[in-house]
Amino acid sequence: MGLCSAQLATVTCLFIVVPHVLSQVAEFISIDCGGSSNYTDPRTGLGWVSDSEIIKYGKPVTLTSTDSNSMQYRSRREFPTDNKKYCYRLSTKERRRYIVRTTFLYGSSGSEEAYPKFQLYLDATKWATVTIQEVSRVYVEELIVRASSSYVDVCVCCAITGSPFISTLELRPLNLSMYATEFEDNFFLKVAARVNFGALSMDALRYPDDPYDRIWESDVNRRPNYLVGVAPGTIRINTSKNVNTMTHREYPPVRVMQTAVVGTQGLISYRLNLEDFPANALAYAYFAEIEDLGANETRKFKLVQPYFPGYSNAVVNIAENANGSYTLYEPSYMNVTFDFVLSFSFGKTKDSTRGPLLNAIEISKYLQISVTTDRNDVSVLDGIRLMSPDSDWANEGGDPCFPVLWSWVSCSSTSPPRVTKIALSRKSLRGEILPEINQMEALTELWLDGNGLTGILPDMSKLVNLKIMHLENNQLSGSLPGYLVHLPNLQELFIENNSFRGTIPSALLKGKVLFKYDNNPELQNVAQRNHSKLIMWILIAAVAVLLLVVGGGLALLCFHRKTKAADKGETTGTKKKSLLAYSAVRGGHLLDEGVAYFIPLLVLEEATDNFSKRVGKGSFGSVYYGRMKDGKEVAVKITADPSSHLNRQFVTEVALLSRIHHRNLVPLIGYCEEADRRLLVYEYMHNGTLGAHLYGSSDYKPLDWPARLQIAQDAAKGLEYLHNGCNPSIIHGDVKSSNILLDINMRAKVSDFGLSRQTEEDVTHVSSVAKGTVGYLDPEYYACQQLTEKSDVYSFGVVLFELLSGKKPVSAADFGPELNIVHWARSLIRKGDICGIIDPCILGNVKIESVWRVAEVANQCVEQHGHSRPSMQEVIVAIQDAVRIERGNEDELKSSTSSGSKAQSSRKTLLTSFLEIESPDNSRNSIAPAAR
Ligand SMILES: *[C@@H]1O[C@H](CO)[C@@H](O)[C@H](O)[C@H]1NC(C)=O
Ligand SMILES: *[C@@H]1O[C@H](CO)[C@@H](O)[C@H](O)[C@H]1NC(C)=O
Ligand SMILES: *[C@@H]1O[C@H](CO)[C@@H](O)[C@H](O)[C@H]1NC(C)=O
Ligand SMILES: *[C@@H]1O[C@H](CO)[C@@H](O)[C@H](O)[C@H]1NC(C)=O
Ligand SMILES: *[C@@H]1O[C@H](CO)[C@@H](O)[C@H](O)[C@H]1NC(C)=O
Ligand SMILES: *[C@@H]1O[C@H](CO)[C@@H](O)[C@H](O)[C@H]1NC(C)=O
Repeated sequence: MGLCSAQLATVTCLFIVVPHVLSQVAEFISIDCGGSSNYTDPRTGLGWVSDSEIIKYGKPVTLTSTDSNSMQYRSRREFPTDNKKYCYRLSTKERRRYIVRTTFLYGSSGSEEAYPKFQLYLDATKWATVTIQEVSRVYVEELIVRASSSYVDVCVCCAITGSPFISTLELRPLNLSMYATEFEDNFFLKVAARVNFGALSMDALRYPDDPYDRIWESDVNRRPNYLVGVAPGTIRINTSKNVNTMTHREYPPVRVMQTAVVGTQGLISYRLNLEDFPANALAYAYFAEIEDLGANETRKFKLVQPYFPGYSNAVVNIAENANGSYTLYEPSYMNVTFDFVLSFSFGKTKDSTRGPLLNAIEISKYLQISVTTDRNDVSVLDGIRLMSPDSDWANEGGDPCFPVLWSWVSCSSTSPPRVTKIALSRKSLRGEILPEINQMEALTELWLDGNGLTGILPDMSKLVNLKIMHLENNQLSGSLPGYLVHLPNLQELFIENNSFRGTIPSALLKGKVLFKYDNNPELQNVAQRNHSKLIMWILIAAVAVLLLVVGGGLALLCFHRKTKAADKGETTGTKKKSLLAYSAVRGGHLLDEGVAYFIPLLVLEEATDNFSKRVGKGSFGSVYYGRMKDGKEVAVKITADPSSHLNRQFVTEVALLSRIHHRNLVPLIGYCEEADRRLLVYEYMHNGTLGAHLYGSSDYKPLDWPARLQIAQDAAKGLEYLHNGCNPSIIHGDVKSSNILLDINMRAKVSDFGLSRQTEEDVTHVSSVAKGTVGYLDPEYYACQQLTEKSDVYSFGVVLFELLSGKKPVSAADFGPELNIVHWARSLIRKGDICGIIDPCILGNVKIESVWRVAEVANQCVEQHGHSRPSMQEVIVAIQDAVRIERGNEDELKSSTSSGSKAQSSRKTLLTSFLEIESPDNSRNSIAPAAR
């Protein structure tokens, strides 16, 4: 047998087509559970590894008479029937999408009363109940997930009958944004059906035909209630011509697209059962015209059943939708509700000469992701496990709290769950108690007695819920920290048989705490009264002296300030006072240090050499370079319109601006209002505007991608601060690349929020002409004349596209006279053509995933409707992701999945490629303002 298959392997190997997507294959993980050796499967050329060194638990079971000739199914791994979970950990790249697949072949059985029935989990999410009904059937469970950290845990547990087992475990990375959905922060996709219609045989089609190793089931299938109720006149067709599948992002294999069914009598219909339905689902239909139609022939049809308003009225005309024959057209149904029994049919339209055609379908159920245990808690527990790495208890896999608890922890029922108890008495722990334990705020019981712990007690002052702490019988040393007295809930503290030193805080001895401390030879409970009294007196004396010195100093300082303020007051006159008053009312306090101050016009004239060097023009007016007497370089802005009604606004703005301080906002240093001139004095930004760096000037060398990400992040933070950090919140209203300035260190700061409106005050103010800049203008604002934070988000999306492409937002040369960067970029993103967007200057030096991340969020920012756009906070998260991906720093645990963004849903737009009713792009174009 062994010889036989070895020969087979060499022979078959000669015929294996080496797939062109080699990178993916290298990352395939294929685990033969219960297998005894590593090998290459001759049928696919894929390498399989035995799990014998991956998992310590369970036992291999050899299947004697399996009629499946796959090597993977010669054995399986069976786990004990107990209250534990048994887990495999697969390493992943954070935010990358994967197929995770498990299979179960029970094989021949003795005389069991019942076949196994148990639970399958991915992390904390219940994936499936595996119910074996036929011993010789391979049950396949498949999830499409976006990894939220550097690993996923696949666990079996909770047997209802029989013993949990597993036959194979496979991990297949997907390319870029395949199967991206707008729900992926909260939902996995559980594959319910993936069918190749018109298949040439009964065998499923997978790797190497599908480089991603999806399993495309044949529609010639003997399963009960699967693809029954076939309409009369349905025929199977095939072609050997190539089909172009690169037009859409799911890349179904060519061989799947080369076959189809056709309803020659005008109807295709099928019925199939969908496990675990009714549910909300994501569905794809894959079409390619693979018959050569005559010039006067057409193939047009509609989805007749199930009826979805919106989808069902759209006419599918494959050749037209795909722009040609032998080309993929892939309408997606983003969120539809299907029943357990799904009947679907396509019917031809009256004016069509040919009946409907269908190449393949895919249906996946949205599976709500359950939140995993608090990450801080998990990382502390991981640290503790390393203190006794070979113990059984340290090797219980999966999430500490889900689906069943580790044997040595208890958890709260909060979301996310927190660890409330660590029970590790006498578990041969070595080393020091981890200082990070202070982060486990929910901890109520800590049992670490009877181990070999050494070192001092770390800070545990944040463990305010701690009731019981057992540290007896270790080798802990050092003094008893003071926080022990202040833990409000502590009831029981045992520290006998250690080497603690020093005195016992007296509160511990007389408090309500049950405190045991015998056998710590150097620990003293005699309060040393005389000494402490002396120390107290010395302390009191020292404090008194200190108070005197500080008090005197303060008095001097106040006096000095007052005189200074009076000096200024003389020159500024009444306007300064009104500003002060205003500020006092709004801010509740007077201007204090670090706040913009009045600068006389004379001083500014001198600093700017009589306004001789103009460095820019903002929406607020011209900007001049200046240098103050103390050497500080400044940018002085003169208001363009000195008409008197601006007066109050000016005062308002300055008062407001002077209270805004943020690293990523250009700071206002001072102001001047004199002789009908109004000036604002800002810190000078040495490296000019972002726009100039991207395309405006040849003085600068092109920015590389990490620099662009840094700038994007800086600017986003500045805007986020305006939206959320200010009260009242501030809408910038004119976000653009020329309003993002770069300081001497190339860090970005947002400028020109001088004309920003405060949301509260300005909602009633509806101006007749939309303010803002062509190319950046939120179409919704233009239509409704109402500025919101989401208008800034839109404009920022345009800036992101500029950063990606290095192109101007409006450019007849790049996009034609009708179009702008938004239309251009969106259409490329929809085609999945990210390389078409990237600035040639940086292409080749970037991680495409990182660029995608930014493109996806930019695409969301420019959604037609404000409510579909992300918040600036979410934009920042996306940019930080991109930074992390670019740095290749996947194991950073910082990114939180829960706070995550909706930003992944570039896919939403694909819907419109099916509907083609009203592309939002066109409508946006038509309402874009002509000029100004
Ligand atoms: C199988 O391969 C893995 C790594 O590829 C290795 O760690 C393991 O020892 C191998 N197992 C056997 C049984 O050869
Ligand atoms: C993703 O797909 C594109 C287009 O088909 C291909 O060029 C690229 O190599 C793929 N990337 C990976 C990592 O497989
Ligand atoms: C493929 O289609 C041709 C007709 O175009 C037919 O003769 C042939 O039998 C088909 N092949 C299979 C395997 O169905
Ligand atoms: C799908 O739509 C339903 C209702 O239309 C909604 O409740 C649900 O949240 C949507 N998304 C998912 C993933 O189910
Ligand atoms: C299409 O045109 C051909 C000749 O040009 C004709 O024989 C045929 O009947 C036409 N078919 C239809 C459906 O009109
Ligand atoms: C559609 O296909 C034709 C040729 O088959 C080509 O000239 C045209 O550019 C394509 N249009 C689009 C939008 O791809």
